[in-house]
Amino acid sequence: MSNFVVRTANGVMDWVNARAPGMMPAYRKHMTEYYAPKNFNVMYYFGSLALVVLVNQIVTGIFLTMHYKPSAAEAFASVEYIMRDVEWGWLIRYMHSTGASLFFIVVYLHMFRGLMYGSYQRPRELVWILGMLIYLVLMAEAFLGYVLPWGQMSFWGAKVIISLFGAFPVIGNGLTEWIMGDYLPSDATLNRFFALHVIALPLVLLLLVVLHLGALHEVGSNNPDGVEIKKGPKGNRWSATAPTDGIPFHPYYTVKDLVGVGFLLIFAAFVIFYAPEFGGWFLEHDNFVEANPLVTPEHIKPVWYYTPYYAMLRVVPDKLMGVLVMFGAIAILFLVPWLDRAKVRSYRYRGLLSKVLLGLFAVSFVWLGKIGAGPGTDPVETIVGRFLTFYYFAFFITMPLWTKLDITKPVPERVITHD
Ligand code: HEM
Repeated sequence: MSNFVVRTANGVMDWVNARAPGMMPAYRKHMTEYYAPKNFNVMYYFGSLALVVLVNQIVTGIFLTMHYKPSAAEAFASVEYIMRDVEWGWLIRYMHSTGASLFFIVVYLHMFRGLMYGSYQRPRELVWILGMLIYLVLMAEAFLGYVLPWGQMSFWGAKVIISLFGAFPVIGNGLTEWIMGDYLPSDATLNRFFALHVIALPLVLLLLVVLHLGALHEVGSNNPDGVEIKKGPKGNRWSATAPTDGIPFHPYYTVKDLVGVGFLLIFAAFVIFYAPEFGGWFLEHDNFVEANPLVTPEHIKPVWYYTPYYAMLRVVPDKLMGVLVMFGAIAILFLVPWLDRAKVRSYRYRGLLSKVLLGLFAVSFVWLGKIGAGPGTDPVETIVGRFLTFYYFAFFITMPLWTKLDITKPVPERVITHD
C-alpha cells in the first residue's frame, strides 16, 4: 500500500515537473538549498510566526465574510449572529480578533530583532523597506477591520482618526469627506472599508510579503552575530559552494520554527478560550455596544498597537503638528538603514552606549503605548509623554552620531553557536 502511494506521488511529481520544470528549482532555491546561518536564536521565530498569523487571518476572515453583513443597519447584529448562532462562529471570530493583536505582537518583536542585529544594514535595506511597507499596510488593514463590527469604538475611533486628515490646510475637509463618502462614518464608509479590508489590502499585503521574502533570499539572512556567512568559508556537507556556516532552511528551520508555532498556538488558545477580550486590550468593552452617532464613549482610544503613536498625537498641543509628529514617527523608521553608521551590525558587538540607547528606546515606546491607552487627562503624564516623544525622535535623528561614537568590539569571522 505504502509502495503504491510513493509510486503514485512520484508519478504525479514527474508529471508536474515535465510540464512546469521551473517549479522544483524554485522550491530548492527557497527551501532545501536556501542556506540560512546556523546560529538563529528565538528572535528568528517571528518572521515565520507572522506568516502563520497571516494565514490564520485570511482563512478565518473568509469564513467571517460568509456571515457578516457590511451595512450600517445590519453589521452589528450580524456579528452578534456569528457569535451566538453560527456553528463555531464564536471561535472563528475570536481567532480573527485575537489574530489581529498577535500579528502586532509578532511583528513588533520581528522589527525589534531587526534593530538588535542591524538586519537592515547593507545589503538588506530593501528587505527593511518592504517590511516597513508591510507594517503600514498592516496598520491600515487593522484599522479598517476594527470599523466593521460597527460598535461604539468602531464608529468613534474611525471618526477621530479620519478627522485627523482635516488638520491639513486647504484639502483637509475635502479629504475627510472623500475618505468617508459622507460627513460622518456611515453606511457608505462601512461599505468601502469592507471592500478594502477583505480584498484590496490583503492582496497588497500578500504581494509585499512575497517581495519581502524574495528580497531576503536574494541576499541571504542576517543572524544574531551580524556575520555575513556568504563572505566566510565555503562548503558544507550538503554543497561544496554553500557557506560553511549555512544549513538548509528545509528541513532544519522548518522543523525548528514548528517549536515556535507550538508556543504561539498555546498562547493563542489561552487567549481565545479564556480571555478573548484580554481585559479590553484586544477587544474593547465599548465595542460591544452598537454604534451611536449621538452618544460619545467616555474615552475614545485606539487598540493597543496604535497607542504609542496616539500618545504622540495627544501630547503635541497643535493638531496639525500632532498629526505630522505621529506620521513622522512611522516615516522615520524607513530611514534607519541610512541613519545607522555603525561598523558592526549586531548589538552583541556594539558598545554600552548603543545598548543603553536602544533599551531606552524600547522602554519609551512601551511607555508611550501606556500613555496613549489612558484617558489623557493627567498633566504630569502629558509632560512625560512629550519627553518620551522627544526621546523617540532624538534616538533616530542623532543615530548617525552615536553609532559612530560608540566603541564596538571585534566581530568574529565565523558565527558563534552555543552548542
Ligand atoms: C506580515 C508581516 C511580515 C512577515 C510575514 C514577515 C516575514 C519574514 C520572514 C519569514 C523572514 C525570514 C525569517 C526571519 O528572519 O525571521 C523575515 C525577515 C526579515 N524581516 Fe520580515 N516579515 C513581516 C514584517 C516585517 C516588518 C514590519 C519588518 C520591518 C520593518 C520586517 C523586516 C525584516 C528583516 C530586516 C528581515 C531580515 C532579518 C534577518 O535576516 O536578520 N519584516 N520576514
